[in-house]
Amino acid sequence: MTHITTTGIIMQEASSTEEWELMSDIEHMLDTMKWPNRLTRTKIGTHPDRKAFVLGKAFQYDRATELVESRFNVMYPELHAALKRLMRLHDPGFRFNCIQLNANVECEPHLDFNNCGMSYGLALGKFTGGGIVIYPNAKSKADANDPEKMKGALPYRNKRRWVYYNGATTLHASLPVTSGTRYALIFFERRRPCVRSSPKKRKKTWSHRKKRSNQRWRSRH
Ligand SMILES: [Fe+2]
Repeated sequence: MTHITTTGIIMQEASSTEEWELMSDIEHMLDTMKWPNRLTRTKIGTHPDRKAFVLGKAFQYDRATELVESRFNVMYPELHAALKRLMRLHDPGFRFNCIQLNANVECEPHLDFNNCGMSYGLALGKFTGGGIVIYPNAKSKADANDPEKMKGALPYRNKRRWVYYNGATTLHASLPVTSGTRYALIFFERRRPCVRSSPKKRKKTWSHRKKRSNQRWRSRH
């Protein structure tokens, strides 16, 4: 069942028993596997229970514009295959090359500039609380400091429900889990060259380059 919210965020239930059962299998894998230590996403905080890694494509460590296979693809091939199958069951036409896996991660209001186009988010696990919150009046990360623009926040429960949203243009955050472990899975397309900085920063960078190039031209002529 699909539910289009007032903010344009689309919430979807599992579309078949097969999909629902595969969610249970994946939940079991996430519960029983050894998660990698804190190799990625240093911004997730210091709590030892918070874990995060990426399957699919990742940016190369020393060349941030180069896309490479995540080192975790070979460590978790069964999980990777099961997640890809899950998306094939849910939305076979959805294009993605990256899956972010988070455990117990709580995010402050943010935009995801690495996500090109629409993303699918899904929460699995045995937990209470949690959910995603959308700020429909905020248009940029800077708006997070403006109490007026942060008013009217809308929470959505996403346990075993798909959230279809644009993470690069929709300011969003996660709600705290009150007990248990929540796994947040985000499926998205990471492309090169992709916007890895805010449009404001990018504009600044380009104007800076243009200025430098003009200066060089003037100095030569
Ligand atoms: Fe996000």
